[in-house]
Amino acid sequence: MSVILWWLVTVVLVAGHSASARVVELDWEVEYTFWWPDCKEGIVMAINGQFPGPTIDAFAGDIVIIHLKNKLSTEGVVIHWHGIRQNGTPWSDGAAGVTQCPINPGETFTYNFTVDKPGTHFYHGHYGMQRSAGLYGMMIVRSPQERLRYDGEFNLLLSDWWHQSTHSQELALSSSPMRWIGEPQSLLINGRGQFNCSQAAYLSNEGKRQCTFKENDQCAPETLRVAPNKVYRLRIASTTALASLNLAVEGHKLEVVEADGNYVAPFTVDDIDIYSGETYSVLLRTHSFSTKKHFISVGVRGRKPNTTQALTVLSYIDAHESARPSLPPLVTPRWDDYNRSKDFSNKFFAAKGYPPPPEKSDEQLFLLNTQNLLDGYTKWAINNVSLSLTSTPYLGSIRYGLNPLSYLKSPAKEFVESYDITKPPVNPATTKSSGIYKFPLGIVVDVILQNANVLKGKNSEIHPWHLHGHDFWVLGYGDGKFRPGVDEKSYNLKNPPLRNTVALYPFGWTALRFVTDNPGVWFFHCHIEPHLHMGMGVVFAEGVDRIAKMDIPDEVLGCGLTRKWLMNRGRH
Ligand code: C2O
Ligand code: CU
Repeated sequence: MSVILWWLVTVVLVAGHSASARVVELDWEVEYTFWWPDCKEGIVMAINGQFPGPTIDAFAGDIVIIHLKNKLSTEGVVIHWHGIRQNGTPWSDGAAGVTQCPINPGETFTYNFTVDKPGTHFYHGHYGMQRSAGLYGMMIVRSPQERLRYDGEFNLLLSDWWHQSTHSQELALSSSPMRWIGEPQSLLINGRGQFNCSQAAYLSNEGKRQCTFKENDQCAPETLRVAPNKVYRLRIASTTALASLNLAVEGHKLEVVEADGNYVAPFTVDDIDIYSGETYSVLLRTHSFSTKKHFISVGVRGRKPNTTQALTVLSYIDAHESARPSLPPLVTPRWDDYNRSKDFSNKFFAAKGYPPPPEKSDEQLFLLNTQNLLDGYTKWAINNVSLSLTSTPYLGSIRYGLNPLSYLKSPAKEFVESYDITKPPVNPATTKSSGIYKFPLGIVVDVILQNANVLKGKNSEIHPWHLHGHDFWVLGYGDGKFRPGVDEKSYNLKNPPLRNTVALYPFGWTALRFVTDNPGVWFFHCHIEPHLHMGMGVVFAEGVDRIAKMDIPDEVLGCGLTRKWLMNRGRH
């Protein structure tokens, strides 16, 4: 099917809902506050005094307006609406340095955008490592004509938590030699975890400490109360800084029905893997007669874990209040069983009714993921370029033709063919750049992400890649080095899932396809916060000539060269 036709179908689907568009208008204040996320006191970034931030609940077609006031005393802030495509409002994407200037302390910025299609999403800080500091929350977009049938729903927002402050983490990661932040101290479910103890210690003899907390403690887990013989939709999102996770509900199967805001052909599993930046909906059928409680467990995958599983409880309504689950929580699969993870990834197909992707691409972009050194500093690089954002956000500088196109020089579109991905880099040196890739509107782009060995030793890490402003089709995964002209033949062009985040497995490749149908400047990066901080991302500018005519609000322009531009016109 042609690109235009595919686009038309999307527009018609979307327009069907807009007759009843409402406005969801919210006043938010961001502030640091003392909190006990894992029963130990720390500092979180709260919104209106809440951690995690308030859940946004809207219908497809609604306009969401958020007046975000920065009440931090010494640092800027932005919020990114992860999964929202921002068609026609790229300045509301909330990526500092890419689409806007950070909002200054004391100032208010208004995000104004349309949530054009139903899905499970979240939002988070996108400046420095503010996501790690706890600036996040859920964002649910409902369908007025929901095709899934269920009786109730719960949100599970998953994150990881360190006792070291994020400022200290940032400094550690950008020190020479780099000081690694290590594994998280706790995993949080809806912002609640328990450090160094287990709620299920009474069921095992592993010598773990039994957690003690009072019902009203900020770290007390939320119980999911369910009735027998019903179907519940669990909306699960991972905003972890580092951890890849696995979630299971003891005694219950999970039917996966949605991924990253797109329906998928349903399939049933015992547990799901979830990487940072991904969201899922799963349907859980409750037992016909039960008065029991069951553990929901979340554990680490893909890195050698050093963090206790996070637990929360699913309780049948007639369960005795003081009763505890009688069976131990399911244990996360072996962290390095990558074949199991890949099997899970390969279960995803688009649900019925989604048109297939365009048959051919107009451009192929090969992106080699490596870990490198830059004057003694550890960096992540893409095609040997470690991203460093300029102080002038791209959207504004392209709009006003500032910084005469120097950084618009695109980095390499492919990597040296002889590169050996199975060994540490022969020449570990990398370069730093703020260069971006430019695409004309209306073309089909394939991105082939290629993983490689890290700087030292024999190892390769998982990188969940997230694209702003788009959904893309996941065409396929493979082991080893991508073979151009051969591996394309294995692509799924019939019913690949649409997503906005996809995993790149150790020593392997992942191929995705998207259409440049959204004029703007879009971040494409590894969703692991420390990796992004160390340069693991690229930027796509789509329809540069269209951007040059955009009516961008002055409020996103108050920094770098765009601030001068405003001042010269008396608009500051
Ligand atoms: Cu949720 Cu640019 O990320
Ligand atoms: Cu990464």
